[in-house]
Amino acid sequence: MEISTGTPRFTSYTLLTPRSRIPYCIRLRSLLHGSMRSSAPRLQHPLRCISRKAAASDGDNRTNVVDRRDVLLGLGAGAAAAIGAPRRALAAPIKAPDLRDCHAPEDLPEAITGATNCCPTYDGTGIVDFELPVSAGSSPVTRVRPAAQLVDAEYVAKYEKAIRLMKDLPADDPRSFEQQWRVHCAYCDGAYDQAGFPDLEIQIHNCWLFFPWHRFYLYFHERILGKLLGDDSFALPFWNWDAPAGMALPSIYNVSSSSPLYDPKRNPAHQPPFLLGLDYSGTDDDASGISRDNQIDENLRIMYRQMVSNAKKPQLFLGQPYRAGDDADPGAGSIENVPHGIVHFWTGDPREANQEDMGNFYSAARDPVFFAHHANIDRLWHVWRSQIHNNNNGGFDFADPEWLDAAFLFYDEEARLVRVRVRDCLDMASLGYAYQEVPLPWLDARPTKPASPGTPARALDALPATLDKTVRVAVARPRASRSAKEKEEQEEVVVVEGIQVSDCSRFVKFDVLVNVPDGDAESGMGAAYCAGSVALTPHAEKRKEKGAMMKTVARFGVCDLLENIGADGDEMVVVSLVPRCGGELVTIGGVSIGYAK
Ligand code: C2O
Repeated sequence: MEISTGTPRFTSYTLLTPRSRIPYCIRLRSLLHGSMRSSAPRLQHPLRCISRKAAASDGDNRTNVVDRRDVLLGLGAGAAAAIGAPRRALAAPIKAPDLRDCHAPEDLPEAITGATNCCPTYDGTGIVDFELPVSAGSSPVTRVRPAAQLVDAEYVAKYEKAIRLMKDLPADDPRSFEQQWRVHCAYCDGAYDQAGFPDLEIQIHNCWLFFPWHRFYLYFHERILGKLLGDDSFALPFWNWDAPAGMALPSIYNVSSSSPLYDPKRNPAHQPPFLLGLDYSGTDDDASGISRDNQIDENLRIMYRQMVSNAKKPQLFLGQPYRAGDDADPGAGSIENVPHGIVHFWTGDPREANQEDMGNFYSAARDPVFFAHHANIDRLWHVWRSQIHNNNNGGFDFADPEWLDAAFLFYDEEARLVRVRVRDCLDMASLGYAYQEVPLPWLDARPTKPASPGTPARALDALPATLDKTVRVAVARPRASRSAKEKEEQEEVVVVEGIQVSDCSRFVKFDVLVNVPDGDAESGMGAAYCAGSVALTPHAEKRKEKGAMMKTVARFGVCDLLENIGADGDEMVVVSLVPRCGGELVTIGGVSIGYAK
């Protein structure tokens, strides 16, 4: 895989002071605070990748006019290069953290009272290296993870018993539920420094560690539950939100408030069978919004985009390289933003200050449904690797040793501290588990072709800019009308760079659309133009510089999209950045077109 450090330059303008506007989703949050859904005002459905709300604010475009020559020149610097984040590090993998050095998270969300300690129990015991659970040659798979909506009463009783036993362990037992959620908190809220880089945290989100780290996390969690039950075939359920039958909070987590699978800190409006929208931005559908069937169709189209058209290369699906010495958050893969981040936010409780539990990384794993959510993420990695990109001759994994040898620490079912490496988790079967086979209805949910592609809305904005309104910029394409072979070798990618979030304790989301015509925003006809979304789950971070708590980059594969909307021969495209939630916290540095191998 090729990474260059080319960074396109952009015309810069002095920004007008961003208007202080409360984002729609935050207003909803305070409206819901302390009240149930029935008493909340009815709200428009703002989603479907185009919102009436955003369109309504288009009328007050600032009058920055982009000098087209500057845009073209600016893009020339790096656009033709393959894409990647700048690096300052030697090529070495992220090392397992030193547990003796675990410290309080750098910047926990303000409203968390009392020092929340994410650090796991550590009594100085030695570390053992991971070994696969079964030897080659024997039938390895002993655990089959079922879809949560398909399990029977016997399974639920067993699962409840296991979680109850885990919750009943002494709090300082590394296998206790209390310790289990801390493991997640510590790896995502800056509790560990990178070995040799005391000013850099270890962050396993928004980068290529996302899938493997969570795979191991679930692996050990599941084995601990099995051990407590004395049943080594016990397998976690998965929340099958990619199929209509699973597009609600799984009811097994909501049986009664005395169930150990229940968590009171969930959105009260989103109890089963309330339909999950994979484009959720903080507001729920109402009678004038889209119908249930349309929402399901839309969910399936989102799944198709995130799994297929947006996920043609490892870096686009798995996330960006992150090596020793790198800053956190080089960029998430397609699924990590959507639906991963969306489902976290949708599940968390808007009455809580930080959308606890699921809506904030520090608290997410306090909700047992976290593990079912991530089992589905893990399953989709397996589906992508074995069914979507299986013709790629091994090209579905990164070959970089800095990925394969990245290491983490987990406690196993015997309370031993185990060092694992990414390379150990790539073959799911050798880890001894599999997933129940269920249909993949999104596999043929291709976006429809716009009947007659209209004229793109005019690009009147310049970058950098704050997303307190829709921002539209013209972007040059270094190569138009490439051959099918060229497209297969190198995916064309819209790169949204210099994304800075000034307060990463708040959920932010924006959509990225290519050549969307004026007016399609209001009519909800923009889906075919939607390259994807950035959806960032709140978490603590080491503050990077004044005013910027989080910096990241987003990448969207657009070969299929450009063909579908008839723009493959164009030398310029208009990229619209449409804020859906917390846009006034987000600044965008630049947009360019690059290529991913
Ligand atoms: Cu580590 Cu879904 O988060």
